[in-house]
Amino acid sequence: MDSSPQPVVVFAVNGERFELRRDGDDDPGETLLEFLRSRTRFTGPKLGCGEGNPIPNQTNQTPARLIANAGGCGACVVLVSEYDAEADEVTHATVSACLTLARGLHHRAVTTTEGLGSSRRGLHAVHERFAGFHASQCGYCTPGMCMSLAGALVSAEGKGKGGSPRPGFSRLTAAEAERAVAGNLCRCTGYRPIADACKSFAADVDLEDLGLNCFWNKGDDDDASVSKLPPYKEGSIAAFPEFLKDEIRSSLGVDRSASSASSGSVSSWYEPRSVEEYYKLIGSLSHDKSRTKVVVGNTSTGVYRDTELYDRYIDLRAIPELNSVSKDDKGVNIGAATSISQVIEILRGEGNSYKDEVFCKIADHMEKVASQFVRNMASLGGNLIMAQRDEFASDIATVLLAAGSSVCIQVSSERMNVMLEKFLDMPPCDCKTLLLSIYIPHCTPSGISSSSESVNKAGDKPASSLLFETYRAAPRPLGNAVSYLNSACLAHLISDETSGNCMLQKICLAFGAYGTQHAIRATNVENILVGRPITASLLLEACRALKKTIVPVEGTRHAAYRSSLAVAFLFSFLYPITKETFKPVHAVHLKGHTVSKNNGNLNCGPNTRVDVSLNGINNVKSDLHSNDRILESSKQVVEITEDYLPVGIPAKKVGAELQASGQAIYVDDIPSPKDCLHGAFVYSTKPLAHVKSIELGPSTEQLKSVAIVTAKDIPEGGNNIGANTIFGPEPLFGDPVTQCAGEPLGIVVAETQKIANIAASRALVNYSMENLDAPILSIEEAVKRSSYFDIETIPFLLPQKIGDFSKGMAEADQKIHSAEVNLHSQYYFYMETQTALAIPEEDNCMVVYSSTQCPEVAQETIAKCLGLPCHNIRVITRRVGGGFGGKAVRSLPVATACALSAYKLQRPVRIYLDRKTDMIMTGGRHPMKIRYSVGFKSNGNITALHIELLINAGMTTDVSLVIPHNFIEALKKYNWGAFSYDAKVCKTNIATRSAMRGPGEVQGSYVAEAIIEHVASVLSADANLVRQRNLHTVESLMLYHSECMEDALAYTLPSICDQLITSANYQHHLEMINSFNKSNRWNKRGLSVVPIVHKFFCKATPGKVSILNDGSIAVEVGGIELGQGLWTKVKQMAAYSLGQLWADKSQDLLERVRIIQADTLSVVQGGWTTGSTTSECSCEAVRCASSILVNRLKPLKEQLQEKQGTVSWDELILQAKMVGVDLSARELYVPGASSIYLNYGAAASEVEIDLLTGAVTILRSDLIYDCGRSLNPAVDLGQVEGAFIQGIGFFMNEEYLTNSDGLVVSDGTWTYKIPTVDTIPKQFNVKLLNSGFHKKRVLSSKAREAIRAAREEYDCSRSGSSAPFFDLEVPAIMPTVKELCGLDNVEKYLESLCSVVR
Ligand SMILES: Cc1cc2nc3c(=O)[nH]c(=O)nc-3n(C[C@H](O)[C@H](O)[C@H](O)COP(=O)(O)OP(=O)(O)OC[C@H]3O[C@@H](n4cnc5c(N)ncnc54)[C@H](O)[C@@H]3O)c2cc1C
Ligand code: FES
Ligand code: FES
Repeated sequence: MDSSPQPVVVFAVNGERFELRRDGDDDPGETLLEFLRSRTRFTGPKLGCGEGNPIPNQTNQTPARLIANAGGCGACVVLVSEYDAEADEVTHATVSACLTLARGLHHRAVTTTEGLGSSRRGLHAVHERFAGFHASQCGYCTPGMCMSLAGALVSAEGKGKGGSPRPGFSRLTAAEAERAVAGNLCRCTGYRPIADACKSFAADVDLEDLGLNCFWNKGDDDDASVSKLPPYKEGSIAAFPEFLKDEIRSSLGVDRSASSASSGSVSSWYEPRSVEEYYKLIGSLSHDKSRTKVVVGNTSTGVYRDTELYDRYIDLRAIPELNSVSKDDKGVNIGAATSISQVIEILRGEGNSYKDEVFCKIADHMEKVASQFVRNMASLGGNLIMAQRDEFASDIATVLLAAGSSVCIQVSSERMNVMLEKFLDMPPCDCKTLLLSIYIPHCTPSGISSSSESVNKAGDKPASSLLFETYRAAPRPLGNAVSYLNSACLAHLISDETSGNCMLQKICLAFGAYGTQHAIRATNVENILVGRPITASLLLEACRALKKTIVPVEGTRHAAYRSSLAVAFLFSFLYPITKETFKPVHAVHLKGHTVSKNNGNLNCGPNTRVDVSLNGINNVKSDLHSNDRILESSKQVVEITEDYLPVGIPAKKVGAELQASGQAIYVDDIPSPKDCLHGAFVYSTKPLAHVKSIELGPSTEQLKSVAIVTAKDIPEGGNNIGANTIFGPEPLFGDPVTQCAGEPLGIVVAETQKIANIAASRALVNYSMENLDAPILSIEEAVKRSSYFDIETIPFLLPQKIGDFSKGMAEADQKIHSAEVNLHSQYYFYMETQTALAIPEEDNCMVVYSSTQCPEVAQETIAKCLGLPCHNIRVITRRVGGGFGGKAVRSLPVATACALSAYKLQRPVRIYLDRKTDMIMTGGRHPMKIRYSVGFKSNGNITALHIELLINAGMTTDVSLVIPHNFIEALKKYNWGAFSYDAKVCKTNIATRSAMRGPGEVQGSYVAEAIIEHVASVLSADANLVRQRNLHTVESLMLYHSECMEDALAYTLPSICDQLITSANYQHHLEMINSFNKSNRWNKRGLSVVPIVHKFFCKATPGKVSILNDGSIAVEVGGIELGQGLWTKVKQMAAYSLGQLWADKSQDLLERVRIIQADTLSVVQGGWTTGSTTSECSCEAVRCASSILVNRLKPLKEQLQEKQGTVSWDELILQAKMVGVDLSARELYVPGASSIYLNYGAAASEVEIDLLTGAVTILRSDLIYDCGRSLNPAVDLGQVEGAFIQGIGFFMNEEYLTNSDGLVVSDGTWTYKIPTVDTIPKQFNVKLLNSGFHKKRVLSSKAREAIRAAREEYDCSRSGSSAPFFDLEVPAIMPTVKELCGLDNVEKYLESLCSVVR
């Protein structure tokens, strides 16, 4: 066939040549990520979200709406380079490997992070700086981060902009450098160090602005600092291999049709070279179109799952017409296959040449579509086809609609130009329709350059001014999140010379993404507006009509919010030119508005400054061109003690460079053993049902799946056990009855992970509800049916009550009775999902590599399940790609199922959960319902508090019985006077909830703040004053935490709060905030200072230190390296402890220490790496073990010294070996009774909310944490920052939703939004104090104060009364915040204006 190119795809990966066939049996849909991870030795690109799993899953959604989850995390980012032989030029672009089809890479060069450098060949500056700025914790996101930055560096080089940068730096600006990683997710670091690592390359960076690092000390002069920074050299990224250049040159002019004759085999990949060839091809496949896929960038599979496994692909990128761009003074015609990134450049170039602000603003808006690495592949045409055919919530369709664009399409042999509006309205395109090009006209004040369908009631009089704006309200300011609503408005204005009124001559109002088939024009509203003076009453009329027009389809989430956003956007657009602003139109140069200082969700907004002066809108500024920084400033203050060197210094994280350069090995990076199979879970979609049977669907035969493993396969003597805690076991499989949607029912095992996933999703489960009660899906239902886990029998988990509650209430001046707070769940979102590899060994033994926080428990659970002794099971864990509690109990079923499958089949089996399954199965944080009654004096002193705590534990106990304890202990940070509580742990039919970072403590701390705020609101007092009033005194602290008497004496919290208030300049800020709030109608700010008191416990932990013959040291500990820096601290401690034998050389010893992976048959009693104390306890165990060695070696050293004077370490060890000193020691550190500590900390945060969109921006956060004598301040700082940002996620971003059966529906990056670099505080300051023991924890959310300010104004304007207390539901996502500020706040405001005018 003509359009079939060479049957072999040739490309390079990191300079090595690879070939793939485009015919035969190979899967043509293989992604670059699958290829790299399964067919090369490169492990740098990670799978964090992309699954690319075709076929409907088990949720019975209609295919058109099956949401995929690829392209959303950036873990797989690589650089793809292309060589233009004629121009002898190489271009580079980052792409997500999980979306890129490997067979579309002919003659391209791929660079992964390994291609930048390695520890053997020499690391690249990108790797070294990520490591040196402490920007890698678990490291799973780091290779992708490095490649996103590398892409930005190489692209800045390519553009040759800005002259030559100073040596060692790049051409990037600091603002561009930060934005380089805007599409990459990291769950560990809190992004600040990542932003610093990126900015360290920027030509304009001030080194003083960069955070704690290993290169220089604060205070070093700039020249010295620069000299220590690993230098960046232009040209050091992605050299295009010469062999590939030669092949490309020699292929030029080769007759393709000749070379395509591939020995008669059937091609699976076609690249038509013309439109005609495409139609010929389509015609020839007429009988078999359904198994053919037409692609350009293939990024749509990141949005919608494929519903087929395709046999062949047609790649449109080789059709010249689809890539051509033609420009004239009327507009620009862009080929449909042009990537969005290229379109942005074209529009910006044309916008600048023609001074066309519309083009520039469209380009700005497009920069918020997806992420750089998706935009580089995603085509303009692909986006519009998705909008037209799949009801996709496109931004591009909306903005191009408003700009009067048209498209050129070919339907079979007929070619036509149609307006975009008409195209969107046509019946959904099939493969017979080719979108050839998109025409975007220049807009001039006199009109759109092409025939426009804009309303024109005001005659042909030339318009004097042009106004264009685009808007999007989305969970993330810089994109990588689809909007709740997007909009673009274009208007032609004339002004009445005498009255100075503005009048609209034409207007086009486009809205999309709100739960509509496609973007639409609000023509009824346009008709209302055109030809009439723009007054508040006209605007009000238009807003009311718009609200009736922008109505999401039934079932759309946050429907009322989306409608209210439309009103907000229209208001933003027209309000500055309403009559009531009292400015003649010519004073308003209507090119655009200022960028409002909100978090970027609106491109513009009506600032109250506009009310009095229009200066703001004269100042045209395009935000993405501006040098606005994501992170304006940051400060880290740590105290470094050198008494115990190398303990206490901010040493670089062990293995950070390995992580950055992709050499660090995680479970899924371990090469598959011979005959390895892959498993995927079949999970229940019913909350409570008998599982009658599980069968593989009829269509799975073709998939070559091997087997299905269920409870029936558990060997004799084994048990259906999938997890085990001190509270008892839980089943591995829901058998015979499934207890929740998301419970594992079986494992499908197949030759590849992809086939296993597909087969599992097609498995047919036969359920029956016969004789079963209705499931319990809520706390309320559990209470009604008294469905609880028994906590009363475990008294040590129930903290003491204080005083007499009734008496305390009697002393109160005021009381609040039974106020309620509801808290929802949060998903862990570790970047590495649950994974295990099980390898059967001789004599019924099994080695299991598991990504777990508790290998010892995994060993025990697997042994019980298989009915084998524990010594038959070796569980090995080297490092975990993020845990946060989710790889503790919840990792056990995965390891156990993997082992069971391997045991049954007697072949190695590996399981790597796709993100969706992980999100459905692993539960997350506990939802809670809390009722409180509180009594207080008029001065704010609280006299009594009673809490009723209801916790939704899900179907099994897991560790849920400790949650009430943690909650109450955290709540006790204030002196409540008399304190009592009643706690119940509800047993329900939802997926088991487990411990997540700060389990129960996060919620307890939040509820304490909610109570304080409530009291303050009743008293109309400043909440921060009420906080201070109720902080513990030493006496009350001792009463509340009697088991920590020592700490009560060293009670530093009041001084921490004082420091914070002074350093954050609290009073001054408060005044500024008050004045800001008075003068800004649509933005409000709030500031609060939140303290924390945290109790923590040490636990028994083993450590083993072995000195080898050459003097190198191997250390093993019970604790697992999860990214929290455990290995780094342990290494420092081993060097310090053994350093006693080698005075002043402990730093050198550091280099000799290696921490070994955890192995349950080498170090027993490893326990759980949870509760934040494992690093310290592991260090203590290593110190003890090292002391044993020191005691053994000291006499020998003294003998040798006596004989020969000095003795080196190597000599000592050699002699020790000769005389038979045992050079290995193990110790179990067992903490004493006094190992319960209190830690203190506080955070002050200032936030701003946008009342029009509900967007919240954290302007500044100051954190002080008393972490005792830090073993490594850099590591501890990273933990504090990371925990804080994870807390922000819980309180402000992350909605973990389920359907009516309790099945999780927020099941991927598309629907679940963790914080990104653009959502962290703009000023982020952290100080670690050195006076106790380290503890990391999550702090609290501060949006409430700003919302309160907004509500006061809103409610007062409505009723003249003061704003009542409100329940701030968390996560306080944009719709929640806007609802609290009033979904109709615009209309209310306009009404008030109208009444004044009247
Ligand atoms: C993580 C992620 C985030 C995103 N966020 C946003 C966002 O915020 N806003 C937004 O607007 N978009 C967003 N997108 C969508 C993205 O813009 C589209 O996926 C992309 O533009 C599609 O282009 P493509 O070349 O990859 O299309 P493909 O995936 O290759 O094709 C898409 C479909 O269109 C058909 N097709 C493609 N080109 C043509 C043509 N010329 N003629 C006929 N049919 C054709 C194909 O057959 C296919 O069915 C996001 C995508 C991802 C993956
Ligand atoms: S795995 Fe590719 S973007 Fe997440
Ligand atoms: S370091 Fe970024 S996800 Fe762990």
